[in-house]
Amino acid sequence: MIWTVLLLVHALLLYFILRHRSRSRNEPPLDKGLIPWLGHALEFGKDASKFLERMKRKHGDIFTVRAAGRYVTVLLDPHSYDQVIHDQDCLDFHSYAKVLMERIFQLRLPNHEPAKEKAVMTQHFLGMNLCGLNSSMSRHMLEVAKAEMPQNQKDWKEDGLFNLSYSLLFKVGYLTLFGGEQNNNCSDLASIYEEYKKFDGLLTKMARGTLKSYEKKTAQSARQRLWELLAPARLAKGSGSTPWLHAYRRLLREEGVDNEMQTRALLLQLWATQGNVGPAAFWMLGYLLTHPEALTAVKTEMEALQLSPLDSSVVTPVFDSALDEALRLTAAPFITREVLQDKVLHMADGQQYLLRKGDRVCLFPFISPQMDPEIHQEPQKYMFNRFLNEDGSVKKDFYKGGRRLKYYSMPWGAGANGCVGKQFAISTMKQYIYVLLTNYDLELCDPCALMPGVNASRYGFGMLQPEGDLLVRYRPRQKL
Ligand code: HEM
Ligand SMILES: *[C@@H]1O[C@H](CO)[C@@H](O)[C@H](O)[C@H]1NC(C)=O
Ligand SMILES: *[C@@H]1O[C@H](CO)[C@@H](O)[C@H](O)[C@H]1NC(C)=O
Ligand SMILES: *[C@@H]1O[C@H](CO)[C@@H](O)[C@H](O)[C@H]1NC(C)=O
Ligand SMILES: *[C@@H]1O[C@H](CO)[C@@H](O)[C@H](O)[C@H]1NC(C)=O
Repeated sequence: MIWTVLLLVHALLLYFILRHRSRSRNEPPLDKGLIPWLGHALEFGKDASKFLERMKRKHGDIFTVRAAGRYVTVLLDPHSYDQVIHDQDCLDFHSYAKVLMERIFQLRLPNHEPAKEKAVMTQHFLGMNLCGLNSSMSRHMLEVAKAEMPQNQKDWKEDGLFNLSYSLLFKVGYLTLFGGEQNNNCSDLASIYEEYKKFDGLLTKMARGTLKSYEKKTAQSARQRLWELLAPARLAKGSGSTPWLHAYRRLLREEGVDNEMQTRALLLQLWATQGNVGPAAFWMLGYLLTHPEALTAVKTEMEALQLSPLDSSVVTPVFDSALDEALRLTAAPFITREVLQDKVLHMADGQQYLLRKGDRVCLFPFISPQMDPEIHQEPQKYMFNRFLNEDGSVKKDFYKGGRRLKYYSMPWGAGANGCVGKQFAISTMKQYIYVLLTNYDLELCDPCALMPGVNASRYGFGMLQPEGDLLVRYRPRQKL
């Protein structure tokens, strides 16, 4: 017994000596945490925002933490973000994405060329093709709303707003991007959503590798079921895939990806295209319903629209500001890059820090600029007109340290790897809110209800999700 203990102690000592890392001159403050190897992983995973706030108070706007064997340098000064966003030579977007692809989706694409995939995405989600997507999405929005919220229903119907928004927008997004409209099998669609929800609920744990064994089973079976539902043969049977899906699958085939991996890639795309829109629409609509003055302002603007809200000539500054404000409060992605070669990072305040090859760098715009009280007064508060000037034009002037900011909110990321689907996502949310507010009476079940809190385990994974839901009731609006 005593020998085992001694051996263990020696092994641990040796481990520490070999793995010892200390801060060298010019490197950001290093905080390894007390637990060997794991470092701060547990606190990080439980509530990343709280943890990073604590580190910021301790170390300032840049520091390096250890988490599960990795060293992550966190940068929280928005004036210095361009140093990370615009350096694609030393800092790489794809290697971390690849790690997540494998952990969450069990997807390996050895001959994958990200530039080609990006070209396919850009071609279909921006420019001329957006027109077709806009109209296909609008059509499905009306269809799905009719099916889920029938016009002939007389009485109020109750539902959670998050549940309602996520499921409705998922179905619309699925029909628009993955197709299958002619043999539109509603029970199929509902079961895809059910499995997707289970999978989404476990996603952060899959990414961190912290699934408990019973959760592992659930995750595996949901993934398996989704693969079956998304299998190319099955999709092809429908009216066929949409232009985007068609192009994407052709690219995969050209890269020599077999059918099974193609299906896994489709699940990745399903999550990438559907994971943020529903939750974002929930937050915006929830803030409107809990802030009557905001709801009135948005409704007034919508009622004045003669054309459809998706017409490119229609401007909607009030809606845009109300949306930007909802995203400021609830979009919390990490912008993560892998350090491919040692890099000197020049902070806006003149300090210089060395980033080590093999580490990761991470921006967390949620803390700053988005919730930074120096930039946004009373940052916890929803103010629908925060991004409007007094004359009703778009407000773009925000300051920190006396200097005007380039980045005062970053829900979509920025630079070359910023969100390709931004415009499509905005159209979708606009159309959703327009359809709900013009075709239905929609109100809180409890007029005094407050917005639910956020589920702290999702910080870092894009749009936040609520803990619990906001109960609403709706009925079709009486036609005059
Ligand atoms: C409210 C909805 C959405 C939000 C808040 C959002 C947010 C983001 C963010 C923050 C990034 C950057 C990640 C990084 O720099 O590390 C990103 C990237 C991306 N988004 Fe979105 N997104 C949304 C909806 C969509 C939709 C609907 C699509 C597709 C139809 C889409 C496609 C993409 C793609 C392809 C990238 C990667 C770009 C690249 O590879 O360089 N997103 N998104
Ligand atoms: C969630 O929404 C769906 C569709 O709107 C509905 O059938 C279901 O009952 C809702 N579930 C909860 C828990 O509110
Ligand atoms: C629709 O999908 C369900 C579940 O996948 C299946 O059981 C049913 O047979 C399908 N119905 C039609 C008409 O294809
Ligand atoms: C919070 O999110 C995690 C991961 O998505 C999930 O397992 C957990 O059930 C959620 N908690 C609540 C209260 O919704
Ligand atoms: C699609 O809809 C959005 C509205 O959010 C609009 O800004 C855009 O111009 C539309 N695109 C096309 C090509 O019609």
